[in-house]
Amino acid sequence: MSVTVRVPAKVNVQLAVGAARPDGFHELANVFLAVGLYDEVTATPSPDGLSITCEGPDAAQVPLDRTNLAARAAVALAERYGRTPDVHLHIAKDIPVAGGMAGGSADGAGALLACDALWGTGASRDELLDICAELGSDVPFSLVGGAALGTGRGEKLTELEVGGAFHWVFAMATRGLSTPAVFREFDRLAEAREVPEPVASRELLGALAKGDAEALAATVSNDLQSAALSLFPELADTLAAGRAAGALVSLVSGSGPTTAFLARDAEAAEALAAALRTSGTCRDVRTASGPVPGATVV
Ligand code: C5P
Repeated sequence: MSVTVRVPAKVNVQLAVGAARPDGFHELANVFLAVGLYDEVTATPSPDGLSITCEGPDAAQVPLDRTNLAARAAVALAERYGRTPDVHLHIAKDIPVAGGMAGGSADGAGALLACDALWGTGASRDELLDICAELGSDVPFSLVGGAALGTGRGEKLTELEVGGAFHWVFAMATRGLSTPAVFREFDRLAEAREVPEPVASRELLGALAKGDAEALAATVSNDLQSAALSLFPELADTLAAGRAAGALVSLVSGSGPTTAFLARDAEAAEALAAALRTSGTCRDVRTASGPVPGATVV
């Protein structure tokens, strides 16, 4: 018997970053939107203990040892329920690796839900969310999906109402960016100034609630964008190519380097994707809409 869980990627429509805390994390006002690009995690009982395999375009960059968030999720759940993590985890990976779209977090949430179903632990939603928060700041959102405001280091979630689908184009970059490195660059760039408290934008939350793409385009923001561009200056060309091709707005997704482009509707997204594909400024281009549900057993 195996259990397969499908988990979406995310884009941050607002990422307000405060000053570094004593624990090194940053206080955030992080508005997540789950979008229809998915990883699938399959858990199968394995008498030989924990193992991981991965398939997909970026599979070669995925660690197959216990540093993988999927492995850490299985170990954390097994420890809590006093059992050994005798499971094989297979990850069918479609979310870009080190891309700023929570691909690693998706695999953590997916493995947790898959092992939970396989082992029949009967863990409550709150218990699963606690384990997610231990695994990483973005992991709780991968479990919940939809749209949510993340505060604290991003792990404390308030679910948000969304009044319609938003149509996105994502441009994958030729290399990844390390999230800690992007936060360090944010700190370096912020050194000479006072960093304000991160606050969610009321206009942005209103645009989401209405499902109004133009209003959302006018209010999106990402405080990590300058840091990502500083470490990966070529991303400016991708952002400009999207704007020239008619995107309502172009932004870096999370800590990057994936860039995200909002389109008026599904048809406009396809046209924009075609233009970006021929722009020579990115490795791959995908369309996806959101919000979509979080981790789901399929
Ligand atoms: O929580 P997670 O392990 O995904 O975070 C990865 C890294 O990103 C952290 O080690 C930290 O450097 C940075 N980070 C941060 N502030 C946050 C979330 C992440 O500085 N709120």
